[in-house]
Parts: sequence; structure tokens; C-alpha cells
Amino acid sequence: MRIRALVTGAKGMLGTDLCRALAQAQIECIPTALDSPDYPLDITDTQAVRQMMERTAPTVVIHCAAYTDVDGAEREPDAAFRVNALGTWNLAASCAALDTPLCAISTDFVFDGAQSAPYTEFDPPAPLNQYGKSKLAGENCVRALCPKHWIVRTSWLFGAHGRCFPDTILRAAQTRPQLRVVADQFGTPTYAPDLAAALIRLIRSPLYGTYHLANTGVTTWYEFARRTLETAGVSQTRIEPIRAQDWVSPARRPRNSALRAYALELQGAPLLRPWQEALADYLQARARLHSESPAADG
Ligand SMILES: NC(=O)c1ccc[n+]([C@@H]2O[C@H](COP(=O)([O-])OP(=O)(O)OC[C@H]3O[C@@H](n4cnc5c(N)ncnc54)[C@H](OP(=O)(O)O)[C@@H]3O)[C@@H](O)[C@H]2O)c1
Repeated sequence: MRIRALVTGAKGMLGTDLCRALAQAQIECIPTALDSPDYPLDITDTQAVRQMMERTAPTVVIHCAAYTDVDGAEREPDAAFRVNALGTWNLAASCAALDTPLCAISTDFVFDGAQSAPYTEFDPPAPLNQYGKSKLAGENCVRALCPKHWIVRTSWLFGAHGRCFPDTILRAAQTRPQLRVVADQFGTPTYAPDLAAALIRLIRSPLYGTYHLANTGVTTWYEFARRTLETAGVSQTRIEPIRAQDWVSPARRPRNSALRAYALELQGAPLLRPWQEALADYLQARARLHSESPAADG
């Protein structure tokens, strides 16, 4: 059957790379976004979601839209729950009613970080912050309402089409001789185009369920920052490792939220490449984008 994929949040960091990857794979894409002229969609609007599904008749929905401001969610939890819980609920209900499979993106922040090993799909979630709670609520709506689903947890996402950690480090390094970066939180960085390619493999597979998709390799924010500057050839900025408790922020974050792609391992499916290789590709893509549009440096 020909795939016709409706994407939510098509103008976000992952959504942009996913729509490109779908086009490259010659899969028809319906790129919905809040301000899209052709496919405008606010996922918190129950009726609008159902109407868009009926109008466009996708064979699969890939749900990338989210409220992603982790600290903002502590200040305005209702806003986070409206998008991440109600919005996902709307999609799950419409997909179930129309018998359309749903691939919903979730997060490593559903875990509390108390275990020292990377988290598998079989470890129990216990989110520490409002963002994680709202994303877990969305997961639970999908599980309860829509039998044909893939829930995909990813982590520490970076890509050329949005603000992300390596971009923040490179911008800060332009003006500051020294940066302080947390060295005792562990995670698995994930390059948006690598995740997009893995999502396309997944929606072609018949085995519904929960998956962890992240680049291979566990690291800390400190090491991620150090490697970013080293690979980009930036040597004038020093990075000082600090403890998470010395970095004040509204949201509590897990000490360890590294994801292990255990479902793929068990299935003998290909894993994503090491994050360091992906980072090198990201830095090249970012440099290309900045040379085409120097305003992006600001
Ligand atoms: N970024 C990470 O480090 C990370 C880590 C783990 C998991 N994830 C998950 O990965 C997925 C993609 O994240 P991302 O980094 O690509 O996020 P992003 O760049 O913030 O994109 C999210 C998109 O959703 C849109 N959106 C917000 N509210 C909406 C609504 N009510 N209706 C329709 N669209 C709405 C946003 O539009 P506006 O910009 O116009 O508001 C934005 O384009 C999300 O599910 C996120 O939770 C991300």
C-alpha cells in the first residue's frame, strides 16, 4: 500500500527533517502546522483534528507537535498538558475512529533518572517535571485509545532547523571565553535526520509498540559541549564542568535519562549510529545553512 503520512508540527525541528526525509523516500507527506497555509492544524482543537484527518485521509499519522519548553512547563503546566496530553488524545481518538496507525513521539524525560543503566522500553516511567508528566499523559492516551500505534521515545534532540544544545553552545562560544556546563547528567544525543530515517523504517514495520530511538552512546552535557567545540574547530572557549545542583532552573531534570534501543536490539533491527558521527554531520549542515543565510548567525 502507498504510504500517505500526515505530520503534525511539520515546522518544528524534527518535523522539518522528517518532511524532507519523507520526500526523499518518495512518501507522500501532509505537513500540518499551526500556521501552515495549506494544512493549518492546532492539535488541541478536537474537531479540527478530526476534520483534517477526514479531509486528507492519511494512511499513517506521525505526531511531532509538542509543547517542548521544559522550564516553561513548570510555570504553565496547563499549557503543556493542553498540547502534549489533550493534543495527543485528539490524534489518538481520531486515528482509532478512522483505523489509522499513529506514530507518536515522546521523551526520555518520562524517566526519573534514578537507575544508573540506560533505560529500556520495559523500565517504568516516573517523570520528575511537568513536561515529562504531560508527555507521559499523551503516551497513555495513545495506549488506551489507539491500538495501532508506535510510541517513540527520543532524547537530547539536535538538528539544523531549530534551537538545540550544540547550537546554543556555538552561539555562546562566539562571545564568551568560558562556559559552565553540567557534567553529572547523562543522556543519549539524537540527530533529527537520523531519527527521521528511523521513523520511516518503523512505520514500514508491522510491529506496533513502544520504542526508544536515539543515537548510540551515552554522554553528559559537558562532554557533548566539549565535543561540539572540538569538532567545530573552536578553541578559544574553555568549558568548565559543573554539577547539576549548581545550575538553577525551574524544572528538575533526571540525573540519567539515557535511552537504550532495546526493542530494536531484540528484533535484530539496525540501531542508530554513534552520536559523535551524527554531530559531525550536524555541524556541516549547520555551517552550510549559515553560509547560505548569514542572518542565522545572529
Ligand atoms: N527537543 C528535544 O530535545 C526533545 C527530546 C526528547 C523528545 N522530544 C520530542 O520530540 C518531538 C519533536 O520535538 P522538536 O524538538 O522537533 O520540537 P519543536 O522544534 O519545539 O517543534 C514542535 C512543533 O510543535 C508545534 N506546536 C506547538 N503547539 C502546537 C499545537 N497546539 N498544534 C500544532 N502544533 C503545535 C510548534 O509550533 P510553534 O513553534 O509555532 O509553537 C513546533 O513547530 C516532540 O514530541 C518532543 O516532545 C524532543
